Amino acid sequence: MKGAIASAAKLPRDQQQHLAGGKPNPTTFPIVDVELKMRDGAIVAIGQEATTVANDYGMPFGYPPLREWCHEFTSIAQSVPKTTFETSVAAGSLGTMFLAFDLFVDRGDCVLCDAPTFTGALTPLRTIGAVPVDVATDGDGVIPEALEAVLSGWDEAKSGKRPRVFYTVPTGGNPTGISTIAERKAKVLEICGKYEVLILEDDPYYFLQFTPELVQSYFSLAHAAPPTPCPPVLRFDSFAKLLSAGARVSWLSGPKELVALFDCFTMGTIGHGSIFAQAALNAVVRNMGFDGFLAHTREVCAFYKKRRDVVLGLAQKYLSATCEWKDPMAGMFLWLKVTGETVVDVTNLVVDKMLPVGVFVVPGGPFFPVSRKGRCPYIRISYSMADETELENGFRRMGEIIEQSLV
Ligand SMILES: Cc1ncc(COP(=O)(O)O)c(C=O)c1O
Repeated sequence: MKGAIASAAKLPRDQQQHLAGGKPNPTTFPIVDVELKMRDGAIVAIGQEATTVANDYGMPFGYPPLREWCHEFTSIAQSVPKTTFETSVAAGSLGTMFLAFDLFVDRGDCVLCDAPTFTGALTPLRTIGAVPVDVATDGDGVIPEALEAVLSGWDEAKSGKRPRVFYTVPTGGNPTGISTIAERKAKVLEICGKYEVLILEDDPYYFLQFTPELVQSYFSLAHAAPPTPCPPVLRFDSFAKLLSAGARVSWLSGPKELVALFDCFTMGTIGHGSIFAQAALNAVVRNMGFDGFLAHTREVCAFYKKRRDVVLGLAQKYLSATCEWKDPMAGMFLWLKVTGETVVDVTNLVVDKMLPVGVFVVPGGPFFPVSRKGRCPYIRISYSMADETELENGFRRMGEIIEQSLV
């Protein structure tokens, strides 16, 4: 049937009679073009032709011109030749991760995760019946020796199949703000290659690194300096922290066969992400160009770096006697450890003392793949939304509350 369709598709259009598809007729749709007003006043139009495409159902890999842009951009930004990988535009990294877990992880499988990690990944993992497993981290990110210890010491009789997937947030981790340094990434690649573990690299803060040089990604390292054997790396980028969170547009890049598999799965589940949103962001990034887009990422990064510096000053001023922290290297989070011999867990401190007086922070327990069972002295602070006055008041009050709790 496929062959018959392919040869019929070559016939002149007036010899084809399209009576098969179940698509709505786009001439019944009212939207013919979309104009987006930029912050600097410029108007970027999607254009009538692209709007017609955006009104229609699309392909699982998304709006073709945006897929092409993401593929090319990733190739340049990650220094990986285009011919060696494939890219697919997706509906936000959060949902895409859910699909990836569903595709690559079976019910009952154990999945390696940074400890702590993004709760938005732990929830879907548990939902599909997988078991998240801790890989310890410190101020330099994932500890390769901890990963090796988990995998080499795995007892299949006791714990089931050895994990085959490692979900990691390598840059400006949510909740820690910590990035895994390049030397460690090389070791992690080696270990994952040795134990045949697929790396899912969830990297939405990659362009929000506060260092002058961006730390090389797993995706890039696997191409530039592949260990033998080299594990497959599926990389997840997102426009959510750079252009629009609500547009729900992200992209994944990786080995062609894995991306093709992902596309098939997308087709059978959500169909595709919003072509409309993808066409809109395509118009924006094409108007910016690669250099303009990179310049924009540097502006966004400078915004968060300024906030990070303020937050570190405030932590020093109000929390140095009661807390420890590592300076965030990227992104928008500070991970505080409340110290003191009597401190076991801070959930009640946050819930009973901070939240009721309007100090909105998040207790750290839920960020751990394996439950800390009420023994978690960590608090996640986000500095993305609060201005300097709010930050100052928040840290001052947090400092007072922690000090009172320790007397
Ligand atoms: C580590 C991590 N991954 C993914 C996401 C979600 O990305 P998206 O908005 O593209 O779904 C977030 C956002 O909070 C995040 O912190």
